[in-house]
Amino acid sequence: MAHPGLRTVVVTGGNRGIGLEICRQLAGHGLRVALTARREAEGAAAARRLQGEGLEVSYFPLDVGDGESIARFARHAREAWGRVHALVNNAAVALDGFNAGVARNTLAVNFFGAMHLTDALRPLMDGPARIVMVSSGQGALSCLSRERQRLLMDPSLERGGLIALMNQFVQDVEDGSYRRQGWPGSAYSVSKVGLNALTRILARELDGTGIRVNAVCPGWVRTGMGGRAAPNSPAEGADTPVWAALLPDDGPSGGFFRNRREIAW
Ligand SMILES: NC(=O)c1ccc[n+]([C@@H]2O[C@H](COP(=O)([O-])OP(=O)(O)OC[C@H]3O[C@@H](n4cnc5c(N)ncnc54)[C@H](OP(=O)(O)O)[C@@H]3O)[C@@H](O)[C@H]2O)c1
Repeated sequence: MAHPGLRTVVVTGGNRGIGLEICRQLAGHGLRVALTARREAEGAAAARRLQGEGLEVSYFPLDVGDGESIARFARHAREAWGRVHALVNNAAVALDGFNAGVARNTLAVNFFGAMHLTDALRPLMDGPARIVMVSSGQGALSCLSRERQRLLMDPSLERGGLIALMNQFVQDVEDGSYRRQGWPGSAYSVSKVGLNALTRILARELDGTGIRVNAVCPGWVRTGMGGRAAPNSPAEGADTPVWAALLPDDGPSGGFFRNRREIAW
């Protein structure tokens, strides 16, 4: 059984891949799972599948790249449950190609989407709660120049500064200077670097509130994103995100984990 204070959990991108398995495993721990997805047919079908396994799972529409959709979902969560005990920011895109549009669209979902949804649900997370950022080893700081690493790891970096850095990346891709400015040629990597930095900032912001926030890497997993050659099943990929959503009150906050073990940023 899960931590007795944990009841309602929200999972983004729950219709397939690792997100679907996170929903299955959390519901298996006795939690009430809000399986959210941007497309109704897929989301509702996934929830029905898990209901058929006897699990307490319901589908709710949520496109994390759309502020209106986030606001609607947050209103629903407040009216229906009052409290949210855990949020798993799993939804992400890995878009083909590399240009300013790809950079902007990738950050809109993988970085800003997770940030805006977290902010929208934060008022419902008073008391013991968990936030999990599903990140990636591809967001390791080593993909950046030393100077960029220093800026991202600066312990005094605040939210405003991080947002400015993410927007600067898009600008640097647009004007062709991104290599010189110390960025990699991967919007996905930068979005996960940003998500990791956001995790550290949130952990500081939420210190003393009972909310524990961590980033996790699921490993290389056989999904639409990971491809068929990946060594791990979606169930294996879901293990560490689920572990982080069920941490005890004295569990870690502001860390980055794979296989339930802390890893370097
Ligand atoms: N697979 C790997 O090897 C691997 C490795 C490291 C990290 N990860 C991370 O693990 C997480 C899950 O990845 P996965 O492999 O399960 O990928 P996936 O099979 O491609 O699934 C991605 C999920 O995100 C959803 N999504 C995308 N954009 C969205 C939006 N705007 N609003 C709401 N949902 C949206 C997708 O919904 P649709 O069905 O509507 O597109 C889908 O449910 C991601 O954060 C990914 O970066 C994966």
